Amino acid sequence: MLITGASRGLGRAMAQQYVGAGWHVIACGRAGTAPAEDGIVPETLDVADPASILDLARRLGGMPIDVLINNAGIRGDTGGLQTLEPGDFLEVVRINTLGPLLVTRALLPNLLSGKRKIVANISSRAGSIAEGTLDDDDGDYAYRCSKAALNMATVKLAQDLRADGVTVLSLHPGWVKTDMGGDEAVVPVADSAAGLRRIIDSATMADSGSFRAFDGRTVSW
Ligand SMILES: NC(=O)c1ccc[n+]([C@@H]2O[C@H](COP(=O)([O-])OP(=O)(O)OC[C@H]3O[C@@H](n4cnc5c(N)ncnc54)[C@H](OP(=O)(O)O)[C@@H]3O)[C@@H](O)[C@H]2O)c1
Repeated sequence: MLITGASRGLGRAMAQQYVGAGWHVIACGRAGTAPAEDGIVPETLDVADPASILDLARRLGGMPIDVLINNAGIRGDTGGLQTLEPGDFLEVVRINTLGPLLVTRALLPNLLSGKRKIVANISSRAGSIAEGTLDDDDGDYAYRCSKAALNMATVKLAQDLRADGVTVLSLHPGWVKTDMGGDEAVVPVADSAAGLRRIIDSATMADSGSFRAFDGRTVSW
């Protein structure tokens, strides 16, 4: 299994839990940020950099990958319409939306030779058009748009890769106590990681193209 953005936060917690469950885990982080740890194999990957993505694919060679978790993400400027800054907006989309697409494309040969053939895109309910603005009126234009677009990428990938037997999911981890979620977040990172693992581990082709929360609930697009 390969997890992006596994230097800290949710990605790290999932890497630790999967290693604990006996998986071989490749934990990717930007240069020098993914610490080596018992059983976790660190790799360098900046999902904002297409060359870094291709380098990773080259280093992996033909190694089979059962599960790819596109977890790396940033929040960007959390302000509203008036403070929206074009460069920041595009950087958020580059990392949160384009990154998972390019990583999936580059590692597709590895996934196709894996047994499970699962791509889990860590999205957010904040990017749900139906539910994302129900609970709060934060600005977060870039983040919300990037995750809404990631959800469409999930649906498109699910459609394109169905014939190859690849299951593609969008997952909402909850409001998680990480650097991104902050201290007021309500879901301990270990609980979120465990919930996401339950969904990923039981996923079948019938789930492909769906949007699920860490507690198992289906999130409306
Ligand atoms: N926390 C929440 O409440 C929450 C809610 C909904 C969705 N999510 C989603 O869950 C995922 C994980 O979030 P988190 O809370 O664990 O965030 P976090 O604590 O801020 O960690 C983010 C991770 O992404 C990595 N990353 C950022 N930019 C990267 C890049 N260009 N290339 C490679 N890695 C990069 C970071 O690496 P560095 O250490 O190198 O910066 C770090 O490992 C994200 O996709 C986030 O949008 C989180």
